[in-house]
Amino acid sequence: MKATATAHANIALVKYWGKKDDALLLPEAASLSVALDKLLTTTTVELGDFPSDSLTLDGRTEDPRRARALLDAAGISLRARIASRNEFPTAAGLASSASGFAALAVAACAAAGLDKSREELSALARLGSGSATRSVPGGWAVWERESARQVYPPAHWDLRFCVAICAGGEKDVGSRDGMRLTRDSSPYHAAWIEQCKRDLPEALRLLAARDLAALGALAERNALRMHADALAAAPPLVYWQPPTVASLHALRELRKQGVAAFATIDAGPHVVAMCRPEDAPAVEARLRAVEGIADVLVCAPAGGARVLP
Ligand code: PMV
Repeated sequence: MKATATAHANIALVKYWGKKDDALLLPEAASLSVALDKLLTTTTVELGDFPSDSLTLDGRTEDPRRARALLDAAGISLRARIASRNEFPTAAGLASSASGFAALAVAACAAAGLDKSREELSALARLGSGSATRSVPGGWAVWERESARQVYPPAHWDLRFCVAICAGGEKDVGSRDGMRLTRDSSPYHAAWIEQCKRDLPEALRLLAARDLAALGALAERNALRMHADALAAAPPLVYWQPPTVASLHALRELRKQGVAAFATIDAGPHVVAMCRPEDAPAVEARLRAVEGIADVLVCAPAGGARVLP
């Protein structure tokens, strides 16, 4: 009763920021993401008659309660020993709930011998964290309701995503609390959700056409509007650090020089710049030159969560 699975974290181009159901983690609007190859998590689940659940992340003991909610929903009543390892610098604040809960859902069901569909596994991962819903199918993925689906395989478009580490350590307000606070107090929230509903069909059209200039601009606007919504919460949520802002300006300068590179930012300080593979060395070098940037990871699109033999 033991299995190991891997999953990649993902970056959203049309963001999920607002739940319509806090208990079931159902989104107010649909989102679009791409899985990133270097942001890989490996999780081993062992089920048995243990006195309690336990969870370690990169060797550190963590609270297993969210994992238990997911196991209960899968019908797994045996206690679980969960060991999760990230192949990327968690110390830099890149810890990913998306890859973690996607790998957990897949490993736990394999350990229990449950034969679940991708859709069912995606819906289970959702109970750990919303963004994990999209890491189960991987590739270019859309999450509308209970589960996410892959709309294109990773090979649909060979882009690069330069992840600039703009601060160390954990953020003050996690996405779960931040999202609730924003929904309940930002006067701009309804407009943000309406914008996402317009952005998704347009983003899918641009993704089909592989139009980097237009999709990149849309993704950058969508991210900045999500942050505008969060900034408008009471109390305000400021996820950015000085290197975050400096990176946004650096990418604008690069665009003036003819390099198509566009930013997106999750609920944290890090900037992810999307660009063509041939431009990635220039984008990486420019971001590395920004004061305060500790590291840049250049990622390509990746596939979904899977059980390791
Ligand atoms: O599901 P969570 O708690 O990982 O929240 C994800 C929120 C954002 O990363 C900001 C947006 C997104 O769609 O991934």
